Amino acid sequence: MKVTVVGAGAVGASCAEYIAIKNFASEVVIVDIKEGFAEGKAMDLMQTASLNGFDTKIVGTTGDYTKTANSDIAVITSGIPRKPGMTREELIDINAGIVKMVSKSIIKHSPNVIIIVVSNPMDTMTYLAHQSTGLPKNRIIGMGGALDSARFQYRLAEALGCPSSDVEGMVIGGHSDKGMLPLTRLATRNSVPVSEFLSEEKLSEVLEATKIGGATLTGLLGTSAWYAPGAAVSALVQSIACDQKKMFTCSVMLDGEYGLKDICVGVPVILGKNGIEKIVEIKLNDAEKAKLVESAEGVRKTNALLV
Ligand code: 2OP
Repeated sequence: MKVTVVGAGAVGASCAEYIAIKNFASEVVIVDIKEGFAEGKAMDLMQTASLNGFDTKIVGTTGDYTKTANSDIAVITSGIPRKPGMTREELIDINAGIVKMVSKSIIKHSPNVIIIVVSNPMDTMTYLAHQSTGLPKNRIIGMGGALDSARFQYRLAEALGCPSSDVEGMVIGGHSDKGMLPLTRLATRNSVPVSEFLSEEKLSEVLEATKIGGATLTGLLGTSAWYAPGAAVSALVQSIACDQKKMFTCSVMLDGEYGLKDICVGVPVILGKNGIEKIVEIKLNDAEKAKLVESAEGVRKTNALLV
């Protein structure tokens, strides 16, 4: 199993590290345009192999996509990250050109690849990856919902005073502060609805804190987060690589599911060896349906900025 990670910045390096440490991939290739940067990150990570007990080979390259040939999975993290106060949508001009070029370079050398898009604005970059490559819709996956759901679980656990492992919860909709839709109605602690433990008011605080999860970290760090994005990517990659058929929320091309068409937005999917094995259509109530449609409209507006 060969995995390419494009972008050796903090998010790309975290993806490579978490994938390697889980020891399911034979090779991870990191690509970056900054001379020597990917090679340096790869060497640094390889020097953790004996300490962390993994056998995955990590290789770095400055823009030589021949080294990525025959990758099974490629992760696109390249582009500029958010600065404090910026929205993800404001990154579109620079990141669209990069994501277009990177997706074409990947499929040139790995025609059977499954692509995971992390670059922001993530739903629109996932849509762009479809346009640029023409790959079947099961082979392009946007990462955002998996990250947003992990942040939702963190906030729920914080409010409940319990470990995150006791909590289940998913976030659907666009990966944007306004568009995210944490499904508080379906969240549980050990199978018990969280509404049994938390007041309406507390749940709405959890919901709001989840939606601005990325912005909160950008304010604290001065740039966008990397550990949770890297961990979310590695979980998606593992489910595909090991054919685990786990369910995650991911941004995927919809063709009528949830009443939406020709748009990539976060919904629950099963990930296995074919990439998206199934789009899961859960029953939403009227308020949730309306919010999902509104969120999709926001993504459509950003998609319209693609030239
Ligand atoms: C975040 O929410 C990078 O969009 C990503 O942290």
